[in-house]
Amino acid sequence: MAVRWTEDLFVGVEIIDTQHKELFAMADSLLEAVGKGGGRGEVTRAVAFLEEYVESHFQMEETYMKRFNYPDYPHHKIEHTAFINDFYDLRQELDNDGVTPELTVRLADRVADWLASHIGRMDKALGEFLRGRK
Ligand SMILES: [Fe+2]
Repeated sequence: MAVRWTEDLFVGVEIIDTQHKELFAMADSLLEAVGKGGGRGEVTRAVAFLEEYVESHFQMEETYMKRFNYPDYPHHKIEHTAFINDFYDLRQELDNDGVTPELTVRLADRVADWLASHIGRMDKALGEFLRGRK
């Protein structure tokens, strides 16, 4: 089982695409940690690292949106915030119930599904807008 960035998720802005690939790689390394029977510490570290990276990635996108007065900024930001809240919920579950393979796989899948859906709509539109500005 693996989660992968695929060509159809190409946004056309280098820093955004690079970070999207990195996010998929991080979700994938979570699955790998579980597959190898990685311990609680390994999974917890991978989740914390992913969480930090997600937040800084969203901030980067939001900075671009604000800088160029992107008209769909509020809607885009709402999706980012909703995802972070969702992520926190899953993280809470990990903290409360312990790291189980089932929960870790659910978290990695959730991240990959969300990214694919969000990138395919919101980030592609943002990419098109930003390419027109530069
Ligand atoms: Fe986004």
